[in-house]
Amino acid sequence: MRMRSLEATAWSVLVIVACAVVGAADPVLEPTPDVGAGPNHRSGAPYRAKLSPPLAEGTVLVVKGHVRAGDTAEPLSGVVLDAFQADARGQYDMRGYDYRARVLTDENGYFEFETIHPESYGPPPHIHFVIRLAGYRTLRTELLFRGDLEKRGERDHAEALVTSLVTKQVGGRSYEEGTFDIVLTPER
Ligand SMILES: [Fe+2]
Repeated sequence: MRMRSLEATAWSVLVIVACAVVGAADPVLEPTPDVGAGPNHRSGAPYRAKLSPPLAEGTVLVVKGHVRAGDTAEPLSGVVLDAFQADARGQYDMRGYDYRARVLTDENGYFEFETIHPESYGPPPHIHFVIRLAGYRTLRTELLFRGDLEKRGERDHAEALVTSLVTKQVGGRSYEEGTFDIVLTPER
């Protein structure tokens, strides 16, 4: 009896594995939620790895992460992350490109940029992203900060869009660092 159930278990494992292989087109990574980009996007931001202008007011913040394909989990290079945010007073630059940049992923799907911690203008502080790569659906999303959400008692944001910032020290000064890993969905 025990042998039979072991055999049955082995078969069901085999069937599950076979299904996984046949269903290779199914996503292996959960796509990053699309929450829109809001009304403050401006196209044409410069390509650079820094959003804030030199010596900007506010707490320095470094955001780093990887972009991967949802169907294969492969890292994606050449992804354009069009990132923009409010400044330390909660305002967007609607005339120029302060606090805006297009950031590219490298051959490992890695990106990194520097900015300052955005201030709230009502909603919790956040950085918007419009993320594009040929062959993938354009993703409009945002990154939020756990500490800010906890202070405001907000719990209704997707976990994949929330980063826990780490404070780093350099020569007696400090800055914040956060991670944002992103998953794109292939176009069909
Ligand atoms: Fe915003």
